[in-house]
Amino acid sequence: MKPVVETLRWVGDRPGYVELVDQTRLPEEHVQLAVRTVDEMRDAIRRLAVRGAPAIGVAAAYGVLLGVQELDESDAANVVGVAQEVAATLAKARPTAVNLFWALDRMKRRAEREFAGKAGGARIVAALFEEARAIHAEDRAQCRAMGEHGVRLLKDGCTVLTHCNAGALATGGMGTALAPIYVARERGLSVKVYADETRPLLQGARLTAWELQQSGVDVTLITDNMAASLMASGRVDLVLVGSDRIARNGDVCNKIGTYGVAVLAREHGIPFYAVAPLTTFDPKIASGAEIPIEERAPEEVTHGFGRRTAPIGVKVWNPAFDVTPARLVTGIVTEVGIIESPTTEKVEAALTRGGVAVPTLRRGST
Ligand code: MRU
Repeated sequence: MKPVVETLRWVGDRPGYVELVDQTRLPEEHVQLAVRTVDEMRDAIRRLAVRGAPAIGVAAAYGVLLGVQELDESDAANVVGVAQEVAATLAKARPTAVNLFWALDRMKRRAEREFAGKAGGARIVAALFEEARAIHAEDRAQCRAMGEHGVRLLKDGCTVLTHCNAGALATGGMGTALAPIYVARERGLSVKVYADETRPLLQGARLTAWELQQSGVDVTLITDNMAASLMASGRVDLVLVGSDRIARNGDVCNKIGTYGVAVLAREHGIPFYAVAPLTTFDPKIASGAEIPIEERAPEEVTHGFGRRTAPIGVKVWNPAFDVTPARLVTGIVTEVGIIESPTTEKVEAALTRGGVAVPTLRRGST
C-alpha cells in the first residue's frame, strides 16, 4: 500500500527543488509548497509546514542539496565548505527532533569523505544527491518495517489511542505510530483509532484525523482532556505514539502531552508503545533529562488559530515536547524489532543490531 500522502519529494534533477505538503494549511487545503532555497527550507521546518521527526530529517537532507546544487563545481573545497555552512544553518531550525541533526551530520560527513578521497566538486554534489535520496528511501523502508513489527501488537477489532501526528505526514513513508495501523488495514484487520487533538497546534485534529480519514481508517477525534475518561470507560486497548528523540536509557521525548497519556495508560493498565526508527535514538545522551525541549511562541497558546483566547499580557509557558520516562514505556517498536520494557542495555543492543555506533558515555552518565 502506498502512503496515503507523499509528504515531500525532490522535483526535477539538477537544479531541482523540494515540493512538500504545506501542513499548516491542512485540513482545509491540501496544497504543495515549493521550497527552492536553504532559507525557505529553514523557514518551512521552523513554522511546521514540514514537521514530524523523520520528515524533518529528510527535508533537511534535501535542504543541503538546495544549498550546493548551483555552486561552481570546479572548487571542491568551497562545495564542502558550503555544505557545512548550510548544515549549520538548517540545524538552527528546531532543537528537539534528533533526526534533523542526524541527517545533516550524515550529509556533511559524506561531503567530507568524498573530499578527503580527492573527489572533485561535481562528484561531491552528485554524492550528496545520492545521500539525500538514500536517506529518504531508507526512511520509507524503516516505516514499513516498523509497521510489520508493530502490527503484532494489534488484534482484529482493537482500539488504539494516539497523540500528535506520527503518520505519513510526519515521515518520508507510511509513518511510525500509524504504520502498524496501515499494515493492519492491508491485512484486513479492523482497527479503530482515537486521536487526541493535541493542543496547542492540533496536529491530532488537523493531521492525524485527516490522514486516517483519507485512508479509510475508523478514526474518532477527542480533545486531550478526554483521554482519561476514554481509558476509564475501557475503550482503549493500546497506546501508540511516535517520538522526536529517545535517550540511551529508553526515555521517550514526544509531543507535549505524551507523558500525561503514558501516566494515564499505566493507571489503567493499558500498554503504551512508542514507534520510532533508530534514527530517532540519540546514543550520545544517557537519559531524557539531557534532551533540549523546544519552547514556542506564546501566541500558539493565547491565539489558538486566529482568535485571542487569553487576556493580553498573561504569562505563557509553551514547551512543544515532554519526556516519558522509560519505566512508563511498555516497549519501543523499531525497524529492527520491538524493545520490550526498554533499558540502557536493551537500547544499546538494538542500536548495535541496526548498525548504529554506540559511543562510550562519560563515566557516571549511564
Ligand atoms: O512539533 P511537531 O509536529 O514536529 O511534533 C511531532 C511529534 O511530536 C511526532 O509525534 C514525532 O515527531 C514523531 S513523528 C513520526
